[in-house]
Amino acid sequence: MKKEQLYSGKAKTIYKTDDPKKLVVEFRDSLTAFDGKKKSEAARKGYYNAQISRKIFEMLEKEGIKTHYIDMVSDTEMLVDAVEIVLIEVIPRNIAAGSITRKYPIKEGTVFKKPVVVLDYKSDEYSDPMLNEDIAVAMGVATYEEIAQIRSMALKINDILVKYLDSKGFLLPDFKLEFGRKDGEIVLADEISCDTCRLWDKSTGQSMDKDIFRFDKGDLSKAYEEVARRIVPEIFK
Ligand code: C5P
Repeated sequence: MKKEQLYSGKAKTIYKTDDPKKLVVEFRDSLTAFDGKKKSEAARKGYYNAQISRKIFEMLEKEGIKTHYIDMVSDTEMLVDAVEIVLIEVIPRNIAAGSITRKYPIKEGTVFKKPVVVLDYKSDEYSDPMLNEDIAVAMGVATYEEIAQIRSMALKINDILVKYLDSKGFLLPDFKLEFGRKDGEIVLADEISCDTCRLWDKSTGQSMDKDIFRFDKGDLSKAYEEVARRIVPEIFK
């Protein structure tokens, strides 16, 4: 089923399959931050992120969100639809943290009255600069209609995730989404995991996400395991 490697990114490797319309995504233990300048590995990170992503995609599909997720082919590998990735990183923000507090006079922890959706150009070469709709359309990365649809899907996903994660004892300050085109339709792609979300424990306020690695805040594998215990308890039975 799984054939040659198509692409290896910072934390995931993509493989072709017998079917040109399907790919396998392998979640690895490697970690990078700050445009790849900081690198490391964390035991079982790939496993936890794959399982957390799977559960979240399944849950979103039930809520009517179309995603590229098809099935798991192993503990760390996901079968997905091959999509044409839209080169926009979509970041719904509920509580100010990270880059928005460095670029603008907004204090960390500020709770936004309504979610702030940030669009960044997905480009290592340009260090993911922030976009607006006109720039995205001028570059040809998407049409106005696609951007409107992506924004509305991102807000719907945010609503669902905030409630879901609250029930598991987490706050969701922000997270990153990627979308793709499948037969002319926009679908959710990439992953939703501890690497791509800020997750704060509701009672302690502690980071349970990649900020642990970015800012040396403790044992990343242990925190990801705790997130997995709450979101995918079935894998611990
Ligand atoms: O760095 P920044 O504060 O803009 O990140 C916002 C959110 O998007 C964080 O949850 C971060 O983990 C995620 N993100 C990501 N991949 C990127 C940039 C940000 O998953 N390339």
